[in-house]
Amino acid sequence: MRTLTLGIGNEGDSLAALIPESKRYRSTYIIGKPGKGKSALLAHAILQDVKKPYATIVFDTGDLIPDVYEQLPDEVLPRVRLFTIQAPIPHNPIVRAKDKGEQLADLFDIINIVVGQSSSTRELTERQRRALQIVFDGTTPTFLEITQYLVDHKAAVAKAMNMAGEDFDKIVFDSLADRLNEFLMEERRRRVLCLPAELDFDEVLDKGQILLVWLSGVSPATIRFIGSLLFQSLSSTILEREQKNKRKDCALYIDEFADFIRFAKGAENFMRMFRNGRKYLAALTVAHTDFKGVDDKLLGTIHSVVGTCIAFSCGASEAQKLHHVFLDRYPVSTIAAQPDYEAIGLIDNELIRFATLPPKKPKREFDYTRVDPRPVPPNPLAAFVKATSQEATEDLENYRRKRKA
Ligand SMILES: Nc1ncnc2c1ncn2[C@@H]1O[C@H](COP(=O)(O)OP(=O)(O)OP(=O)(O)O)[C@@H](O)[C@H]1O
Ligand SMILES: [Mg+2]
Repeated sequence: MRTLTLGIGNEGDSLAALIPESKRYRSTYIIGKPGKGKSALLAHAILQDVKKPYATIVFDTGDLIPDVYEQLPDEVLPRVRLFTIQAPIPHNPIVRAKDKGEQLADLFDIINIVVGQSSSTRELTERQRRALQIVFDGTTPTFLEITQYLVDHKAAVAKAMNMAGEDFDKIVFDSLADRLNEFLMEERRRRVLCLPAELDFDEVLDKGQILLVWLSGVSPATIRFIGSLLFQSLSSTILEREQKNKRKDCALYIDEFADFIRFAKGAENFMRMFRNGRKYLAALTVAHTDFKGVDDKLLGTIHSVVGTCIAFSCGASEAQKLHHVFLDRYPVSTIAAQPDYEAIGLIDNELIRFATLPPKKPKREFDYTRVDPRPVPPNPLAAFVKATSQEATEDLENYRRKRKA
């Protein structure tokens, strides 16, 4: 992992502000109000990392990825893989696991991360698991095939579970369909999950690819859905490399990272990455504008474990917190009101003030019109899940509550 240049130190010395190689694995945290220069700093860092042969992975919902893409040196283009909402790289999050039992466990993890755990009681989950176990024996594990099989073999699955068709529908199928439907209802989600998989995070790490995941122009729910799905696959790929010699350097950047967290499980994944990234050679860098959308526990973990903490001018409560992170050396007012493109950093127990470098000139244009022309398979559940209206959701909640009681 290379040493990163952040900018020009401005406290008497003209030395560049640097994050030394050894500290990179301990994660980097950046905060600052809009327009202060966070993304431009990330772009500079990314452009340094991509020159090295290890994997660089960027998640972004704003302008960072188009800017980075336009500034990339020509020679790295063959390693670049661009994931956008209109032209995603299809991914099957279940296929990594070795055996069917593991795949089933993975499937439930994914459902829980993306749909939320609270939406199902334990008994219901157990029944769903049994139904899916039967489905898994008849199919290969892709979301589309699992769902299609369930729809086509409803009666057989009910029989195998020793349930009357009506009971099976009411107790198992409807709730399972409801959960699976989260994954398949939207064309954009099906474009990611139902076309032949091409995105394999093991390959990204092993071949040192540059993966740019740009989730812009869609609802926050879709960003979180796709973001948490991909982040879950990526973090398990990184954190499951038990053999030390299989671990690979990887620079991972997430701009506006709160956009990618959904439900407690998603935050847990983040915490795991912050705590264990170093051991697994993942250098994580995250940025955000304020504390909104990040729970206190995660924020506490981040602030206490990161190796590098950088603050541009930020809001009063954020500056208050950073004042402590910066060992009470700078008054809150100094942290809150810095000139544009200047920041304070705690790097390797040393406090520095520095100015960032202006953005590089673009070398090419980002194509905002790129669309995957392939037809997207229809949702096999469309006929079963009638509405995702508020009313239907509430009905379902009531039904679940009743069953729980
Ligand atoms: N060091 C710099 N010198 C000159 N211009 C800069 C510098 N850093 C950033 N800029 C410019 O300032 C503008 C805002 O920067 P940037 O997008 O990085 O801010 P940000 O903190 O990420 O804001 P947001 O929270 O809105 O995403 C951009 O147009 C960028 O090109
Ligand atoms: Mg930005």
